[in-house]
Amino acid sequence: MATKPHEEIYIGLDVGSTKVCCIVGLQEEGEPTPSIIGVGVAPTSGMRKGVVVDVDETVSSITAAVDEAERISGVVIDRATISIDGAHVTSQNSKGVIAVGRADQEITVEDLNRVEEAAVAIQLPLNRQILQVFPRSYTVDGQGNIKDPVGMNGVRLEVESHIITGATPTIKKLDRSIFQVGIEIQGEVLVPLAAGRAVLTKRQKELGVAVVDIGGGTTGVAVYEEGDVLYSSVLPVGAGHITNDLAIGLRTDVDTAEKIKLKYVKAHYPKGSGNEKIKIEELGGDDGTTITRRELQEIAGARLDEIFKLVRAELKKVGKDALLPGGVVLTGGGAKMPGIEELAKDALRLPVTIGKPSGFSGIVDRINDPAFAAPVGLMLENMVYAPIPGSRTNAKLGETVDKLKERFKKFLP
Ligand SMILES: Nc1ncnc2c1ncn2[C@@H]1O[C@H](COP(=O)(O)OP(=O)(O)OP(=O)(O)O)[C@@H](O)[C@H]1O
Ligand SMILES: [Mg+2]
Repeated sequence: MATKPHEEIYIGLDVGSTKVCCIVGLQEEGEPTPSIIGVGVAPTSGMRKGVVVDVDETVSSITAAVDEAERISGVVIDRATISIDGAHVTSQNSKGVIAVGRADQEITVEDLNRVEEAAVAIQLPLNRQILQVFPRSYTVDGQGNIKDPVGMNGVRLEVESHIITGATPTIKKLDRSIFQVGIEIQGEVLVPLAAGRAVLTKRQKELGVAVVDIGGGTTGVAVYEEGDVLYSSVLPVGAGHITNDLAIGLRTDVDTAEKIKLKYVKAHYPKGSGNEKIKIEELGGDDGTTITRRELQEIAGARLDEIFKLVRAELKKVGKDALLPGGVVLTGGGAKMPGIEELAKDALRLPVTIGKPSGFSGIVDRINDPAFAAPVGLMLENMVYAPIPGSRTNAKLGETVDKLKERFKKFLP
């Protein structure tokens, strides 16, 4: 599809443990958000707990999703912002300090580049690399909490940055899979941060909020405060582990266990309903097998409890356990389990909502789903790489983009 001069295409590609999802957005001048013109989804094989274990199988899965998105949108997909997933990812906060360069002591973009370079000059083992850097706040001559110091005067400039790193061999495998599909990588974004991009409001990020993306093989956590990323991590357990536990507990195969999970399992059920009898047709026989709700919950509930205990421990690491005025927003396929809001509320002692991408036009029925938060967020992140040429609405964005690109050149693939 040929775009008009004031239109631009943005593409997000999320290679998850259970599904690959490709989203194509079309931004028209004057519109607040891109319109969704293509969605491609394919089941994943070749991935485990968010990382590539078989390149060839992953390539076929990505190809299937990309082909569908191309067919629907009419756009040739040869570039995208992609997701980074898996427990190999870690994050840390780091400080950088420099002396302001100009004789008249006015702080310039050049100083920001230098101070960020100082912040990312961290000791990394040979097999790890920096994936994303978020400057959180600046300090000028001891005066802290400054968001944009350019134009201010000072002698000493400090920055506090949030740095996300990943295992190089793991990232190389993913990059190779994407490359084999013929896609140029325009940025890599951690899954929970991509989900946050699609579902959080500015106000929530200001207040302090966490995104918990419960996927098939992983659960991503991102914590925001004062508008910035405070912490991010990926846990190696997801909703797929509930399926595996059911397969073992009910002595059935994984596909049947998945069907049973989707049809009968609830995250939260009314007290006193433990003896309720549930007939599971999928378990064979003429009329299926009858088990009690308690028996079913004992299997599924244990895994859910584990997931939320781990999430709570992550929040504790940054002193936000039960202390986030903006609450928790659940995304990912696991957020679709009935009753998960109530369970999460009790387990995390915080207000909880389910996050779905909203406010878009185009193919909205498909993306009105918590499992599409990360892929839609990646499409939005792709806007940094392709501003609308010459468009008035994006002139400012374009400027910011150039500044960003300049500042983060070294991290761009
Ligand atoms: N209605 C539902 N109830 C319970 N679980 C569901 C429901 N719908 C989807 N899921 C589960 O959500 C999981 C898939 O979520 P999602 O699509 O976010 O994962 P992914 O992005 O492929 O994986 P990951 O992010 O872990 O790499 C599966 O385990 C699936 O069973
Ligand atoms: Mg996912």
